[in-house]
Amino acid sequence: MRQIKPALAPALGLAIALAVTACGGPPPAGQAEAPAADAAAPAAEAPAASADAGDVAARIAAADVNKGKVLFLQCRACHSLVPETESGKIGPTLHGVIGRAAGSVPGFTYSEAVANSGITWSAAEIDKWLERPSDFLPGNKMVFVGVQAPADRAAIIAFIQQESAKPAAP
Ligand code: HEC
Repeated sequence: MRQIKPALAPALGLAIALAVTACGGPPPAGQAEAPAADAAAPAAEAPAASADAGDVAARIAAADVNKGKVLFLQCRACHSLVPETESGKIGPTLHGVIGRAAGSVPGFTYSEAVANSGITWSAAEIDKWLERPSDFLPGNKMVFVGVQAPADRAAIIAFIQQESAKPAAP
């Protein structure tokens, strides 16, 4: 694993994600009816903004959204990015996740680690989560190794931000 060329890593991540999805069996019951929670989510800022929030904001401002779209393919195996839930996804929709309370998509069964985290997903919190989910919230059920490059995480977050601003497809 350590000798994989960086250029291959995203493709490999996608392959792993797809494999996980393929083995994951049917989605949990009730997920199909889960409405998007973005409108209902509290808009409060995270009170204890992390010290590097400004750094994350600067990275996102400089991010390549088109690269984020490609990188998001890794996430798309498990996550929708539209308000209406797509069937067959084993993760909650990420439409409107920025500013949303962690673990708050109705009908999705979260791990206790996420449900009880008390986090509101700011860009800075998502950045830390994506660096290594298993370290950020131990015991969570997102089977994903993480995104190493800070610029790549910023590009993914910028893409989520852009897509979340779009209205539902006709
Ligand atoms: C293998 C499937 C899988 C992949 C790949 C994956 N996720 Fe997840 N994700 C999940 C699951 C399952 C959860 C719910 C975790 C829990 O409850 O512990 C989750 C939770 C999340 C949450 C918290 C959502 C909430 O409502 O609180 C965010 C944010 C997130 N993922 C972002 C991403 C991003 C961005 C990527 C791509 C870089 C990604 N995930 C890749 C399965 C995945």
